[in-house]
Amino acid sequence: MTDNTDQMRRAVLLGYPVSHALSPTLHSYWLQQYGINGHYGAMAVLPGHLKQALDMLRNRGDAGCNLTIPHKEDAMALMDDHDESAVMSGAVNTVVIRDGKLIGYNSDGFGFVEGLKAAAPDFAGQRVAVLGCGGASRGIIASLRGAMGVKSFALINRTRAKAERIIKQFTLHNSEVFEWHERDKALAGCDLLVNCTSLGLVGEDHLEISLDALPAHAVVADIVYRPYETPLLAAARLRGHIGVDGLAMLMHQGRLGFEHWFGVDPVVDDTLKLHLLEKMESESL
Ligand code: ATR
Repeated sequence: MTDNTDQMRRAVLLGYPVSHALSPTLHSYWLQQYGINGHYGAMAVLPGHLKQALDMLRNRGDAGCNLTIPHKEDAMALMDDHDESAVMSGAVNTVVIRDGKLIGYNSDGFGFVEGLKAAAPDFAGQRVAVLGCGGASRGIIASLRGAMGVKSFALINRTRAKAERIIKQFTLHNSEVFEWHERDKALAGCDLLVNCTSLGLVGEDHLEISLDALPAHAVVADIVYRPYETPLLAAARLRGHIGVDGLAMLMHQGRLGFEHWFGVDPVVDDTLKLHLLEKMESESL
């Protein structure tokens, strides 16, 4: 029997908590689909221990890792190099270890735009309302502008200063900042609404918003994927809007790391989505 253990490529999710994370299911599915000699696991890393964990991965020869709460922002200072996607969002969710160096990427914006394209491909020159101005939002705005050619944004955030910072840093023209309490009317004239807040997530407050001012043709996207059908998406679908769920972004953002670590840009399809939904369902039993 051939011992090919030393050829096995390994990647891992670092976060706290990680017990309900879907990334191990996602990557293990792809590893099996493509018959790759690899492993993707999850490791609980407490706040303040990220450096030791990254050193450990580097020393044992891992291909890289994904990062989730609470490490995405702290990781910026621990990278040897940053892809522009990480610089734009101010956070790292994918680390590639190459020649012993840690290279930080952020695939949230890419994942969001790829998921959106599958449902509604064309937003060039259009206007987008974004709820929330945290790390995920920054990456998504950068990709909407860069990869999709979006021209104008309505940024709505509880903390106004963060929205203003994004307008300034990205030199967004034809764009405005709205107070959180102005969110209903900010939707007027928008072709896409994206929820980038954590509102609507299981255990969090609901997102209170009226979609009355949103044009009938507008698409509504939510980055929250627990529950799969958020109250925002349910309300949008009732009004006839196309809805784009958070699982689309989750699946597509995983492609970037998988390709770097395991050498294949994996396919996102309905079978994969069903597999993830089954996993989510089994956990809620
Ligand atoms: P992520 O990395 O997922 O973007 P984040 O950077 O913590 O996470 O951003 C969370 C976003 O949800 C922020 O825009 C936050 O608003 P603030 O910038 O004012 O903190 C928003 N958010 C979280 N809880 C909220 C609430 N109860 N009401 C309104 N916005 C909320």
